[in-house]
Formats: sequence, structure tokens, C-alpha cells
Amino acid sequence: MRQRIGLTILSLISLTSFNVGLKAQSMQHPPDWPDWAYGLLSPLAPGDRVAPPCPPTAKPIECGYMGQPVPDDGIKRTLPDTSASFTRNEAYFGYGPADWYPNDHPLMPDIVAKGKESEGLQACALCHYPNGQGKMENGHVSGLSATYILQQLEAFENGTRRSADPRKANTNVMAMIATRLTDGEKQQVAEYYSSMDYRPMVRVIEAVEAPQVRSTNNGLMLPVPDMPPTPLGQRIIEVPEDPEKTEMMRDPRGGFIAYVPVGSLVKGERLVNTGDSKTIQCGICHGPDHMGLGIVPGIAGRTASYTMRQLWDIKQGTRQSPLMTPVVANLSAEDMLNISAYIASLP
Ligand code: HEC
Ligand code: HEC
Repeated sequence: MRQRIGLTILSLISLTSFNVGLKAQSMQHPPDWPDWAYGLLSPLAPGDRVAPPCPPTAKPIECGYMGQPVPDDGIKRTLPDTSASFTRNEAYFGYGPADWYPNDHPLMPDIVAKGKESEGLQACALCHYPNGQGKMENGHVSGLSATYILQQLEAFENGTRRSADPRKANTNVMAMIATRLTDGEKQQVAEYYSSMDYRPMVRVIEAVEAPQVRSTNNGLMLPVPDMPPTPLGQRIIEVPEDPEKTEMMRDPRGGFIAYVPVGSLVKGERLVNTGDSKTIQCGICHGPDHMGLGIVPGIAGRTASYTMRQLWDIKQGTRQSPLMTPVVANLSAEDMLNISAYIASLP
């Protein structure tokens, strides 16, 4: 109980200690905007905090929401099947975050394990984990082809891949990181992450209610303890299977639960497998099992928020993709939600 209170206080600190940043002025989103896919709980409104300006001279870390340092409680935490132990702040250290399971992955290149502190470039492992599994608010990078990884780094660098939601700062951090990598480092990270398989990590549950959640600085959703469930409506709510392990320990073996609207899986399956006269069968390009084909990335078993965010960004044109543009052209927000739910449920 005492630990639960401690955790709640810590969480409150990290929740309220963001910088003020810019405020949304007159921007407005259409009513079907999927805030949930960006890890947000409400529509963009005047006065909302939006991502800090990110000039080309900025350090990557300056493009995110700079929090006050969270005081370390000094508690060494552990996870199953490892002798390692880290405090919360050790696990979160941007230039050498926790590596709980060194045997789960090959030796990390320096840029993956430590980043470049002098340039404010945090380790890839901080957000995508040493094993490349990532989380709902960033995405997995394991199981992708080296060519695709290089393409995406280039797209972030050229500005042809941006977030459609001005509140999502970590996409800007990612883009700035891409601009700061040497060609040699890009090659290293592409080879490293493509050498590992992706382990699907989402359990999909059709439901009318979902846990009440709060959203962290970067768009990770966490259930609020001791609160009754809330109507799901036309949203997908994704939360870690074990919130404490994901939030405090950054457990790279963790998974997510996606609460999806009742009926969404059947509708999504139809769209994905037949196109339903609105879109093109996904398997033609993503492979019959949706696990990728050549350099086209796998989409099976990804977090639903990640998939929805990509489809929505492509539809809004902030992520440019000539092959995907016709795929989303006639899809409504609801169609894309159904597709994202079904794709997440695939093994
Ligand atoms: C501060 C957190 C952060 C760090 C550090 C970070 N990334 Fe990312 N990365 C993101 C986010 C956020 C996204 C997804 C943005 C979106 O939703 O489109 C992303 C997406 C990606 C993608 C695209 C994945 C796909 O399926 O298209 C690749 C590739 C990638 N990152 C590689 C890297 C590499 C390599 C490093 C280290 C050099 C790195 N990232 C460091 C946050 C981060
Ligand atoms: C004509 C080929 C084609 C079809 C059909 C297609 N895709 Fe794609 N898709 C791509 C390519 C290529 C990419 C990689 C982005 C790029 O380079 O343009 C991609 C990227 C994606 C991504 C982002 C993946 C990532 O790692 O960020 C998602 C999600 C996606 N597609 C979902 C779908 C879904 C769902 C369908 C079916 C409704 C579909 N795609 C149909 C070619 C296709």
C-alpha cells in the first residue's frame, strides 16, 4: 500500500512537471480525430500544450517536453528471470537506460545503448528498448528490414514523416535524432534492429468499457488505480499488461491490452482481407500473413495506437507514402479503427 501511494505521488510529479511549451492557438481538428491514437484523452483545444519549436540547431532532447527531474526513490527494482536491478531513474537514464535481459539481443552498438550525450541524442534503447520491441507511443523497430529502417530515418530527416497531431512531441525528437546520425551509425542501427524478430505483444479484447486512463508526457496510457471502468465508445484504449513494470522498470518483455469496440474485429477483418470495395487488400503488399514482404514492413500484432496513428498521419499527408495513400483515401476514421483493432489481434 505504501508503495502504491509512493508510485502515485511519483506519477503525479511526472504528470505535472512538464514545461509550459507553446500553446495551441486557433488549430482545430475535425470531430472524428482519433486523439487516443496519439496517447491523448481530449480534442485539441485553445491553450493545449503543443510540441516545443524544434529549430535545426536544437538538440534532439530539446524537441521533447522537458520535465523537471523526477526525484529518485532509490528503490532497486527487479524483474523475473534476471539478476539485474535498477532504480526508476537508472532504468530511465537517457544515455544508458536499463538493459534487463542482455541475452535477449546481440551486442548493442554504442548509439543504440548510449546515444550521444554531448549532442542531447538519447539512446535508441530508451524508447525502442534494447530488443526493439518498443511501446504504443513509439513503436517497434525489430523485425523490420534494414532497408525500410534506413528509408524511415531518411523520411524523418527530410520532413516527409511528421506527426499530424501538434501535441505529439516525441515524433519531433525522433526526427531530430535522424538528422544527427552519421551514415555509419544509420547502417549500424539498421543492421542491429533488423537482425531481431518482432514478438507480437498485444492482447485484444472487445469491450463496451475500458479502464480509466491517464496519459504520460509521451503518450503512454496508464490505468488510474481504484477507478471504475468508463464507456469505451468509438475508441481503442491501450494499456500495459503490467503498468508498474512498464512505467517504472521499462520492462522490454512487457505487453499491452487493447480494448476495442464490440464488432470492430469482424469489420476490420473484412476490410483487411477483401478491401470491402473501399481499400486494397493489405496482404498484397504486406504479405499473406501481414508479417512483411521484401522491404514492406510487417503490420501483424502491432499496437493498435501505432497502426492507427500511421494510417491517420498518411491520410492527413504528414507521413508521405505514395503506395499507402490510395489505401487510406476512402477509409473513414471508424474503418481505420476497425482495421487497427484487427491488425493488432493478428499473431
Ligand atoms: C525519445 C524517444 C525516441 C528515441 C530515443 C528514438 N526513437 Fe525512434 N521513434 C520514436 C517515436 C515516437 C517513433 C514513432 C513516431 C510515430 O508515431 O510516427 C519512432 C519511430 C522510429 C522508426 C520507425 C518505425 C516504423 O515502423 O516505421 C524507426 C526506424 C526508429 N524510430 C528508429 C530509431 C533509432 C535507430 C533510434 C536511435 C538512433 C531511435 N529511433 C531513437 C521515438 C524515439
Ligand atoms: C500497394 C501496396 C500496399 C498496400 C495494398 C498496403 N500497404 Fe501498407 N504500406 C506499404 C508500404 C510500401 C509501406 C511503407 C511506407 C512507405 O514506404 O510508403 C506501408 C506502410 C504501412 C504502415 C506503417 C508501418 C510502419 O512500420 O510504420 C501501416 C500501418 C500499413 N502500411 C497498413 C496497411 C493496411 C492496414 C493495409 C490494408 C488496408 C495496407 N497497409 C495496404 C504498402 C502497402
